[in-house]
Amino acid sequence: GGREDVAGLVVAWQASHGRNHLPWQQTRDPYRVWLSEIMLQQTQVTTVLDYYGRFLERFPDVVALSLAEQDEVMGLWSGLGYYTRARNLHRCAQQVVAEHGGTFPRTAEMLATLPGIGRSTAGAIAAFCFSERVPILDANVRRVLTRLLGFEKDLASSGNERLLWKEAESLLPQKNLLTAMPRYTQGLMDLGASICTPRLPRCDRCPLAGRCVAFKDGDPQRYPVKTRK
Ligand code: ADE
Repeated sequence: GGREDVAGLVVAWQASHGRNHLPWQQTRDPYRVWLSEIMLQQTQVTTVLDYYGRFLERFPDVVALSLAEQDEVMGLWSGLGYYTRARNLHRCAQQVVAEHGGTFPRTAEMLATLPGIGRSTAGAIAAFCFSERVPILDANVRRVLTRLLGFEKDLASSGNERLLWKEAESLLPQKNLLTAMPRYTQGLMDLGASICTPRLPRCDRCPLAGRCVAFKDGDPQRYPVKTRK
């Protein structure tokens, strides 16, 4: 048990064992980070790498994307799947230009008002680009946190989902936020992708094993709990 140093453990683990050389990690430009987060929502990193480079070559900034024809955007997206993402991407660029003068909003709350940007993606962009102290809760991080906390409530209920967001807030770093927020956010994603996997999680390599309720109880795979509605 003990949740006090969870953030510090994630930050230290990310620095030594996480991914730190992906192209979207070499910038705090919200346009580039936003584009990567949308592409990564339903697509593997190795696939995204290719598309990401081509997309940025053709549309280097949000104004260029906003001025594009929808068909050209769809063409560059072709093969990534989930095409609603591409339509929302285009609409989002047009909204950033029309309503924000071409500058992405700097808070998760404002980012979440834009097309295709849900609460977790907004949190990721705000943490990576602006070091805002806000949580993320995508499918990977939901798995990490429910196991860590032994969170057994059914996530089919929106009230329980809200409770888990509250827990995610309570675990955030409390100091050195400028460097800690991007690292912590990436660290939770990396843990979910490489250690705290759906089947056969590698608890022997997890920096949080000593704090993890599911590890102590010996059955991490029962989390997250979610019944069909
Ligand atoms: N999936 C979603 N966002 C990601 C990121 N920043 N790095 C790796 N995988 C991700």
